Amino acid sequence: MIRSSLVLALLLAACGGQTPGASQAPAPSPADREAGLAAFETVRGVLQHPRCQNCHPAGDVPLQGDEGRPHNQLVLRGPTGHGMAGAECTTCHGPTNPPNSFGMHVPPGVAKGWHMPPPEMPMVFVGVAPGALCEQIKDPARNGGKDMKALRAHLEDPLLTWGWNPGAGRTPVPTPYAEFVAAWETWARAGAPCPGG
Ligand code: HEC
Ligand code: HEC
Repeated sequence: MIRSSLVLALLLAACGGQTPGASQAPAPSPADREAGLAAFETVRGVLQHPRCQNCHPAGDVPLQGDEGRPHNQLVLRGPTGHGMAGAECTTCHGPTNPPNSFGMHVPPGVAKGWHMPPPEMPMVFVGVAPGALCEQIKDPARNGGKDMKALRAHLEDPLLTWGWNPGAGRTPVPTPYAEFVAAWETWARAGAPCPGG
């Protein structure tokens, strides 16, 4: 048994090892699918953590705090997700988190420029059921035109990794980043199965 699965693994590696992406991969086994669904639950918990949801709200107002209250100062998504003229996100949100010595309630920041998804593709995570969220995040028509490879690359995006370094007074995403990425990869390798589908 061990020997034949080793041979199979070597054959698979020989056939598929050079191909980027998993499009040639064999259909996942039921056990892989189960593992993929369990891994998606870890991914889902991160997507729907306040550090992530606050930029992925259902309406046009970004959210604040662990309770997801509407953003102060009547801030709005605006025509491109960068805010309204004169009240762009980067008016207040700088290129880094302010130093801890500035205290709490200061606007966090990232070098690429703080913003939320655009109105025509709002990428809503708040209040979306697990199966629907799963289908949505892997749908290029709703995720900014990303295939699984581009989505994996997005896990390194500064707006996302900020969730593990959110600045003074904010709770970081509790799932360790490496665990989140490993769960994502388990889910993707299993063919990105969605709960209830
Ligand atoms: C400052 C706002 C902001 C924060 C905070 C943020 N995001 Fe996003 N997110 C965006 C924007 C803007 C896009 C669209 C970017 C693009 O298309 O490249 C996006 C896109 C995404 C996408 C790809 C689109 C999709 O629906 O599949 C995923 C996945 C994602 N974010 C996950 C997260 C996770 C996980 C966190 C928390 C760890 C997070 N985001 C925190 C702004 C944010
Ligand atoms: C007038 C200044 C100002 C503008 C403009 C502004 N923000 Fe903020 N934002 C803040 C401040 C201050 C905080 C910190 C509030 C706190 O910690 O109590 C904040 C916090 C946030 C948070 C909360 C992070 C968290 O998880 O608690 C998000 C998300 C956010 N802003 C998104 C945006 C987006 C998206 C835009 C543009 C559409 C924007 N902001 C425009 C001042 C601003």
